[in-house]
Amino acid sequence: MWWWLVFVAIVSIGFVAFTGAPYVPSKRRDVRVAFTELYPLSSADVLVDIGSGDGVVLREARAYGAQAIGYEIHPVLVAIARFLSRRDPGVRIHLANFWQTAIPQETTVVYTFGDARDIARMYNKVQAEATRIGHTLQFITYGFDVPGIAPAKAVGAHYLYTVAPLQGGQ
Ligand SMILES: C[S@@+](CC[C@H](N)C(=O)[O-])C[C@H]1O[C@@H](n2cnc3c(N)ncnc32)[C@H](O)[C@@H]1O
Repeated sequence: MWWWLVFVAIVSIGFVAFTGAPYVPSKRRDVRVAFTELYPLSSADVLVDIGSGDGVVLREARAYGAQAIGYEIHPVLVAIARFLSRRDPGVRIHLANFWQTAIPQETTVVYTFGDARDIARMYNKVQAEATRIGHTLQFITYGFDVPGIAPAKAVGAHYLYTVAPLQGGQ
């Protein structure tokens, strides 16, 4: 296992150099609670993880039957996530900057574990996407709530927001 520790250390150092921040994934156990008690994810869902990292959230979403799509800016994390899901066509991972990405029309749930400084901007991005695609999105945040917006539900460190399209497309 030593080679795996060395690999993880190299990826982590590279990640800090690339983004200026350490890489931290969602806790798998917390994600499972979120996908059962916060928002019961099902095969009717298409989940988008904005900033999908090593893909742990995508793989968990697949365990509940949802289609899973990730957008990730770090190429090494994209490669790792693609490798870990290589046998599952229900997982798609794009090397992309999510601020400049249009999510698919069929998206029902957007997940994020981002930076506290960006959470309000992310909410606005999700609302703009809900308005563009013309239907309500469930927005799950991990670690941070959205200032000034009441969540529909909270379980542990996860918050659920029901984001409706803006009237008149504003
Ligand atoms: C805290 S990690 C969360 C990873 C994963 N969503 C999880 O919950 O385990 C945040 C991820 O967002 C990615 N990220 C940051 N800014 C991004 C951007 N503008 N576009 C795409 N990914 C981004 C980072 O590279 C990192 O992998």
